Amino acid sequence: MTDTAPQAAAPESLLRSADFPPQSQITREIQDLHAGFAERVAGREQLPKTIRDFPPYRSSLLRHPTKNPRLVDPETIELYSPAFGQRDVAAIESDLTLQHTGEPQGERMTVTGRLLDSWGRPIRNQLIEIWQANAAGRYIHQRDQHPAPLDPNFTGAGRTITNDDGEYHFTTIKPGPYPWKNHINAWRPAHIHFSVFGSGFTQRIITQMYFPGDPLFALDPIYNSIRDEKDRDRLIAAYDHDLTVPEFSMGYRWDIVVDGPDATWFEPEEGEH
Ligand SMILES: [Fe+2]
Repeated sequence: MTDTAPQAAAPESLLRSADFPPQSQITREIQDLHAGFAERVAGREQLPKTIRDFPPYRSSLLRHPTKNPRLVDPETIELYSPAFGQRDVAAIESDLTLQHTGEPQGERMTVTGRLLDSWGRPIRNQLIEIWQANAAGRYIHQRDQHPAPLDPNFTGAGRTITNDDGEYHFTTIKPGPYPWKNHINAWRPAHIHFSVFGSGFTQRIITQMYFPGDPLFALDPIYNSIRDEKDRDRLIAAYDHDLTVPEFSMGYRWDIVVDGPDATWFEPEEGEH
């Protein structure tokens, strides 16, 4: 690899922002922007769901798209290759707690839900991948060097295929919040990254699932770059006591809607987090 070769993006970019402001300034900027958006929407202006040029999200300022995205037809080959057959994904890959010889540290949890289209129809046989920090908020990534422990029994990546009802199911460890260098004392709310494939690479969409009641929601510029509160709320899983397993795990439910007015928010294709 040469110096000019692209590197894998660090989690949420751990590069320190140029001005490195305090949280109070970031929070004020978020509140002012949201108030301005609400005013413009009240004046019947159409605004995008995701504000790509969202200054509180400092590390995106130089890399957010400046042009409207264009829809392009995928090349024919993309519809056939790479092909993910059922055989390629083993059932055990949806259990992130079984990837090493020992038990990972932290709060064991399951997350389940349905992948749906805008008519509420299940989307079957689709590849869903997740990645996440461990219980201490640490990713296995060379750019994540903050002083929280790695867990030798937890890698933090898994995948599964939706069943005939469009359902997916993961067993994992609840991720911890983690610091990033967007501003002074910046912490991301705990989250799990989700990737959903359609029938080709060009149909991949990526988003994040959050946990109910997280005190960091109002402080996080990534979460708040989604303009509408209802859209932000759709990224928060519901705690479901019926999904808990006695003496074993907590349970969360989170449905993913891939299009239409109730669609789950997805990251712009150029997003790197
Ligand atoms: Fe993350």
